[in-house]
Amino acid sequence: MTETTIALVTGANKGIGYEIAAGLGALGWSIGVGARDDQRREAAVEKLRAGGVDAFGVPLDVTDDASVSAAAELIEGRAGRLDVLVNNAGITGGRPQEPSSVDLAIIRTVVETNVIGVVRVTNAMLPLLRRSAAPRIVNMSSSVGSLTRQSGPADDLTTGPVALAYSPSKTFLNGVTVQYARELRGTNIKINAACPGFVATDLNGFRGVRTPQQGAATAIRLATLPDDGPTGGFFEDAGVVPW
Ligand SMILES: NC(=O)c1ccc[n+]([C@@H]2O[C@H](COP(=O)([O-])OP(=O)(O)OC[C@H]3O[C@@H](n4cnc5c(N)ncnc54)[C@H](OP(=O)(O)O)[C@@H]3O)[C@@H](O)[C@H]2O)c1
Repeated sequence: MTETTIALVTGANKGIGYEIAAGLGALGWSIGVGARDDQRREAAVEKLRAGGVDAFGVPLDVTDDASVSAAAELIEGRAGRLDVLVNNAGITGGRPQEPSSVDLAIIRTVVETNVIGVVRVTNAMLPLLRRSAAPRIVNMSSSVGSLTRQSGPADDLTTGPVALAYSPSKTFLNGVTVQYARELRGTNIKINAACPGFVATDLNGFRGVRTPQQGAATAIRLATLPDDGPTGGFFEDAGVVPW
């Protein structure tokens, strides 16, 4: 009998994260639904279970050391290892974010969640991932973090609005992804960044043009990479996203 694959998705109570959980769950995997709010987490777990997914709740605020440590302990106690980590939780920090007038507190808050939160969760889970036969880490980035696209001809669907905190937080996250890939070179751990496209979720007041299910597709592909798949890359549905 083969062992069930164990995955943790952060920010899985709604939006793209929920659909990543549903998509990985449909593969027969056991899915940790990472979410900071008890009611929203339990509602998502119930909905996933009603859809046939082997889901379990993982209380998780990515900005909180104690919460992240407890999440690692919960998964260790339940499964003894982790196969796939999807760092999906993220915030925009709200608007406006024009550089000349940005509130510095917004930059700190966004970086704390979108970048430091990913490092915090990844480092807490790495000991469990190292026990997996094929560990995969997916960081939910965005093409708005692509410096190539930000500095090219404007196309609002892939560059978003001028946003000093949010866009550079995803550029920073891409850099973080590459540094992990370098350190983990020579191990069986693959780590990649994903762009979901412009997806209709709470994050953008549902102005996105893609469904959360469509937005989940690249992350699901990177979570299920074969052993000869890439690491240290940045991908969207159409292929590689330029840095
Ligand atoms: N939507 C798009 O067009 C788009 C495009 C590119 C990239 N992305 C990225 O995709 C990811 C998912 O976004 P989404 O569009 O699905 O947005 P969403 O519907 O707003 O979902 C964001 C999720 O992150 C969670 N979260 C935020 N801060 C957290 C924290 N400190 N600890 C734990 N969870 C936290 C939220 O939990 P609560 O419910 O508790 O707030 C929610 O579950 C984000 O990283 C986002 O930057 C989205």
